[in-house]
Amino acid sequence: LATTEADISQIAEGQVITVKWRGKPVFIWNRSKQQIDEANAVELSQLPDRLARNQNLPDDAPATDANRAAKDKENWLVVVGVCTHLGCVPISQQGNFGGWFCPCHGSHYDGAGRIRQGPAPENLHVPPFAFMGDTKITIG
Ligand code: FES
Repeated sequence: LATTEADISQIAEGQVITVKWRGKPVFIWNRSKQQIDEANAVELSQLPDRLARNQNLPDDAPATDANRAAKDKENWLVVVGVCTHLGCVPISQQGNFGGWFCPCHGSHYDGAGRIRQGPAPENLHVPPFAFMGDTKITIG
């Protein structure tokens, strides 16, 4: 299927779920205010990859938290669960920066899915997605 519909009505604050889109895992995270604040506090100069890598935005959009999160619904973070190093699936809410940890070669992603430490060259990619009301997301 080219498109995946995800029901997000049961995702509690702070919780991450995984859905499949085009054979790949996609993580959908309902971030808490504290997690958003921490991601917002990061300066672009601290980021190895300063591009948003968000397919819903222009290619040159900077990797601010707002450009990584869902538009006008900043608690929602939707990212493809494929490490940008060599393609392993990172583990949610692990690692040194509270986002994801890839155990294959030790890449750490932050609360906006941005690479912060380790060999991965790019932030986790944000796939094309849209809200259908408040309880469903269509990916693809
Ligand atoms: Fe994730 Fe290498 S595949 S760190």
